[in-house]
Amino acid sequence: MVTISRIRTDKVPFWASIRGKILLAFFVVVGSSFLVAATNLTGLVSNYLTEQRTREDTQAAESLAAVFGPMMQSAESTGLNNRLKESAEGLNGRLLLLDPDGKVQYDSLNSLCGQRLAIPEVLKVLVRGEVSAYGMYRLSRETVAAMSGEGEAEYLAYGAHEMQGPRGRNGVLLYVSRIQGMMDSMQGVQNQLNTVFILIAVAALILALILSRLLTTPITNLSRTMRKMGKGDLSVRVPEKGSGELRQLAENYNVMAAQLENLDQSRNQFVSNASHELKTPLATMKIMLETIIYQPEMPADMRQEFLQDMNHEIDRLTGIITDLLTLTRMDNKSDPMKIEEIDLSALTEETLRLLDPAARKRGQTLESSVAPSLRMQGDRSKLHQVLSNLIDNAMKYTQDGGKIRVTLEEKGDWLVWQVADNGVGIPPEDQEHIFDRFYRVDKARSRETGGTGLGLSIVRQLVTMHGGQIRVESEPGRGSCFIVTLPRGERGAETA
Ligand SMILES: Nc1ncnc2c1ncn2[C@@H]1O[C@H](COP(=O)(O)OP(=O)(O)O)[C@@H](O)[C@H]1O
Ligand SMILES: [Mg+2]
Repeated sequence: MVTISRIRTDKVPFWASIRGKILLAFFVVVGSSFLVAATNLTGLVSNYLTEQRTREDTQAAESLAAVFGPMMQSAESTGLNNRLKESAEGLNGRLLLLDPDGKVQYDSLNSLCGQRLAIPEVLKVLVRGEVSAYGMYRLSRETVAAMSGEGEAEYLAYGAHEMQGPRGRNGVLLYVSRIQGMMDSMQGVQNQLNTVFILIAVAALILALILSRLLTTPITNLSRTMRKMGKGDLSVRVPEKGSGELRQLAENYNVMAAQLENLDQSRNQFVSNASHELKTPLATMKIMLETIIYQPEMPADMRQEFLQDMNHEIDRLTGIITDLLTLTRMDNKSDPMKIEEIDLSALTEETLRLLDPAARKRGQTLESSVAPSLRMQGDRSKLHQVLSNLIDNAMKYTQDGGKIRVTLEEKGDWLVWQVADNGVGIPPEDQEHIFDRFYRVDKARSRETGGTGLGLSIVRQLVTMHGGQIRVESEPGRGSCFIVTLPRGERGAETA
């Protein structure tokens, strides 16, 4: 008996399910690749923008320093002041001119005149002697408002450039640049990318859900079907939808299920057929027995006849039971093959000799043509059973005085038996069924001759166990010929 473990019906946790895994994988792949792309992109954009701005601002400071440097010494301060304001407005920034001590001499917004400014860029030019310096800053709103004159801004940039007079360096020009707009547009790019990211993530989520559903539905269906089959309902099938491996899985599963169902049905059929076969002789015997019991004054010769009939029925019962046992033993594989080197020619001759008296009794001739010394690997008693069953059938289904011919010959790697008779024959529509269990063409006749309908199914099974084949050629009224081909080597027997 095969042990059967419990059917799993518990729900798979989400993280362990295929759906969970697909979703996670999708998220990791889509999320991480987008994150990398997005950071690279923002980095690229902001680098480009800041570099360009730095270059522009530095150039502006340089050319303004070239203009205002020589003007520092001239006394025309109002003219200089006006030009400074104009230039600052043109640049949309603030311009300051500082003397070599760092004190503001001119201011386009006028508010810082006379003050000393300790701004890093100014110090770099004045103290460290650099020609120009540039830096962008994020500062408090008050500081930005005080320095650039721009309200509600957090960013500004300082561009400093030395100024040269006729007698060398005479101060520094400070350009306060309003970069809030640029920073805002950079933030805009960042926000846009975030929106795109969220959109892509949602799309990926939906896609992953659809994909995982496509993948898991067939599997859940299969699991559900298996559960039902496991509980004993063999008629359920998996819907064969979709394509690819999952469809194949469903199709293969259904083939297996159909085979199981067939097996189950044929087993039931077998049991009911067997019971029926056993019941008939028992019923006949009971009638005869009751007749004998309730008619004590029955004539002696009639009673004798009844008892003989009953004896006949008991023989039939024994025959059926022997055949049934042979079949179930073969089904259970509890009757192993005893493979040995045998002389099939000798075995054929011996079988013919054993059956010859029975044929003689009915006036039938048993002819033979057996090629000598044909050897093969096989089970002696099983092969004997095959041949005697076939000859027995030939005698049973041939009229008295008929002719039966048995031949054994060699055809390449195969040995071929032919058992031919000139008896009743088998109608074409019955030919494919005669090897089925309990199948008989003429039930009444077969029962009369003691047949069970199991003989040929046993024969076919024995032949297949040897790796061979059996077929029939027959014409009703003219006779039948059973042809058995057997492989000589053991290879055939093993694969059977
Ligand atoms: N040589 C034959 N000639 C005619 N019919 C045959 C022959 N051999 C078998 N049959 C048919 O095939 C059926 C099945 O044969 P078998 O399985 O041996 O059962 P049984 O011999 O017990 O009837 C027989 O009932 C018979 O109708
Ligand atoms: Mg038979």
